[in-house]
Amino acid sequence: VNIILLGPPGAGKGTQAKRLVEDRGMVQLSTGDMLREAKSSGSEMGRKVAEVMARGELVTDEIVIGLIGEKLAQPSAGGFIFDGFPRTLPQADALGALLAKLGQKLDAVIEMQVDDAALVARITGRYNCGDCGAVYHDVTRPSKVAGVCDACGSTNLVHRADDNEAALRQRLMEYYKKTSPLIGYYYAKQQLSSVDGLAEMDAVAAAIAKVLDRSK
Ligand code: AP5
Ligand code: ZN
Repeated sequence: VNIILLGPPGAGKGTQAKRLVEDRGMVQLSTGDMLREAKSSGSEMGRKVAEVMARGELVTDEIVIGLIGEKLAQPSAGGFIFDGFPRTLPQADALGALLAKLGQKLDAVIEMQVDDAALVARITGRYNCGDCGAVYHDVTRPSKVAGVCDACGSTNLVHRADDNEAALRQRLMEYYKKTSPLIGYYYAKQQLSSVDGLAEMDAVAAAIAKVLDRSK
């Protein structure tokens, strides 16, 4: 199955995508991760997108559609999880066209509902493993040994450049202006399911599993 995880910054898209990779062998396609990789590669494109991301603004449709197009060329037996893509109506149209070209379809769009006050606490407490990408939180999901990644043992635990209050406000603004119209778009296509993203991580995972099993 191919699914989209849709929700504002901090809704838990990355956290749940990583569980689906482990539990179901799906492939996570996070445009945020791809853009951060481009940034660390030191390329010209990477340098430009890093500035846009640090301000909390959206990167151009052209760049992210290009990145997704490259990844979709690889086969995935378990299906794809689109995490942080699409984020605009043109991106949604482009995804539909790319999948159709491959003879594939979208099986579900899962909206993760949260409220803005919770997002600030989630984003300001978040840290990631700089080596394997595992996601942690100071309060709700600390690593078992302080300063050490549970998954790979790395001590390279980092905060993202855009996880500050000013950038988060901008990211939220972009979400409400450009991404939230996708909720209506996929509702009209009868592909939308909503889950309570404020529940505990295991409960959110169970709600998503239910949607997936229904969509098979
Ligand atoms: P991106 O990397 O996609 O960031 P985002 O959408 O802002 O989402 P986040 O990664 O911040 O949050 P998440 O929902 O994955 O939450 P997480 O699981 O980490 O995009 C970054 C930037 O790249 C954009 O601003 C833009 O510039 C650019 N970009 C990316 N895609 C683009 C596109 N398609 N078009 C244009 N530009 C694009 O969880 C957050 C925290 O909460 C963690 O600490 C976690 O441990 C904790 N947590 C998670 N779930 C729970 C729970 N149930 N209970 C308690 N705590 C929880
Ligand atoms: Zn790690």
